[in-house]
Amino acid sequence: MADILTVTNVTKKFGGLTAVDNVSFKIREGETLGFIGPNGAGKSTMVNVMSGYLTADSGKIVMQDIDITRKKPYERARLGLARTYQIPRPFLELTALMSVIVAVLCGKKRVNQSFEDAAGEATHYLEFVGLFSKRNILARDLTFYELRMLELARALATTPKLLFIDEVMAGLNPGEATKAVDMIVRAKEQFGLTVFWIEHVMAVLVEAAERIIAILYGQLIADGTPDEVVNNDRVIEAYLGKGWRDYA
Ligand SMILES: Nc1ncnc2c1ncn2[C@@H]1O[C@H](COP(=O)(O)OP(=O)(O)OP(=O)(O)O)[C@@H](O)[C@H]1O
Ligand SMILES: [Mg+2]
Repeated sequence: MADILTVTNVTKKFGGLTAVDNVSFKIREGETLGFIGPNGAGKSTMVNVMSGYLTADSGKIVMQDIDITRKKPYERARLGLARTYQIPRPFLELTALMSVIVAVLCGKKRVNQSFEDAAGEATHYLEFVGLFSKRNILARDLTFYELRMLELARALATTPKLLFIDEVMAGLNPGEATKAVDMIVRAKEQFGLTVFWIEHVMAVLVEAAERIIAILYGQLIADGTPDEVVNNDRVIEAYLGKGWRDYA
């Protein structure tokens, strides 16, 4: 399998804190790669650096032969990178439909796409995530679950090749969390995505991911199949705990 993204010796510091410390790994085209680690380990920072929300202090990020280390988020989006945020970031004063139309229009280079066409495409993504009936509701009036799904629709509307998911389950009740996980799995299938997925619920990644990488204090401590990673002594000691299967 070809690599879609290669991260080489990436470091990101916040003042004296090294949030991502000389990290290297590859994301293979078409896979689901899980990303785990304790709170504050550097997972969201890594996604921020890959998506362009933050810039790496050193190291290199290459997407399909293009060096994107210093590219702006919108440039990365046009190359096929999309992400969701751990805490949804909606345009509060826009309707669900308008929010997705903005993503359709901004997500890639288009020549003279009409508003009607963009609206049609946006509607398709809202249907996919189950928000068609909410299309004329302002984002500020949506539930937390609906905002999560709106985020996903916006990400999908940019027609990504590679999607970063930063904790789709956080803040949802168990029923909603199950639906959200199913939605990511379905989106991957339907849109032929590569998925890089941060989640604290190990059982979900063991089920959905072909590979998992683990981070601790900014440093990668494991990279392997789910089975290898959940049996890795450092991962058990630092993150999972010995009895994790009993609580999963
Ligand atoms: N913008 C920032 N400015 C300063 N420090 C930051 C910033 N963002 C993150 N940090 C710090 O960097 C470290 C890594 O944070 P990060 O959010 O990447 O962790 P995480 O693995 O995503 O954790 P969680 O599982 O809680 O979401 C933490 O110590 C955090 O406090
Ligand atoms: Mg995080």
